[in-house]
Amino acid sequence: MRDELRAGLRESYDRKARERNLRPVQLWKAEERLRFLAMLQSEGARTLLELGAGPGKDGEFFRDHGLDVVCTDLSPEMIELCESKGLAARVMDLSDLDFSSDAFDAVYALNCLLHLPGRELPAALRGIRTVLKPGGLFYLGVYGGRTTRACGRTTLTSRSGSSPSTLTSDSRRWSPGRSTSVPSGGPRSPPSRPKGSTSSA
Ligand SMILES: C[S@@+](CC[C@H](N)C(=O)[O-])C[C@H]1O[C@@H](n2cnc3c(N)ncnc32)[C@H](O)[C@@H]1O
Repeated sequence: MRDELRAGLRESYDRKARERNLRPVQLWKAEERLRFLAMLQSEGARTLLELGAGPGKDGEFFRDHGLDVVCTDLSPEMIELCESKGLAARVMDLSDLDFSSDAFDAVYALNCLLHLPGRELPAALRGIRTVLKPGGLFYLGVYGGRTTRACGRTTLTSRSGSSPSTLTSDSRRWSPGRSTSVPSGGPRSPPSRPKGSTSSA
């Protein structure tokens, strides 16, 4: 990511951190993480890396359900808020993960990879695969569709042709050696949000 783009994002999320921390968790996000928690539990996952963790609400949820969580984010203000919740947290760019190979049973990335320019996505996904144990779980949540900037730019389209205007969040097992394109399991009901809404992610 270009330095100016990264600096702009950091500054913007730093500024919004406290306000975002006060917002209640949206219902669809709560449902998504519950679904992923069920997968983590059924697989016996213990360690979880959260990318673009924001103020740490999901990290706190997974920690409170027994996971050993490490939160990462580009924004130092967000990381401070994670730490204020007692979470292990580090300022880190998701394109440049500073962890050893096979360090985590699972990775959770909700609405953060959409900030990467599309051409940088394959390398970022390779980095995620590196820190994930073979057979680990990877949750990738992307808010958007054809009507927003995010999905169009990152080319996170479904192989099976899910509606591009719906929320394309999906959880899939990430196997080493697989292609870096993102599989999707098909259409998923959109959240109760108007099509083309520009509400923040
Ligand atoms: C839309 S917020 C989502 C926060 C949280 N995951 C949620 O769903 O509420 C995006 C977060 O990703 C972080 N972020 C953006 N680009 C990033 C990057 N390259 N590396 C790490 N974090 C990044 C931002 O600082 C911000 O906290």
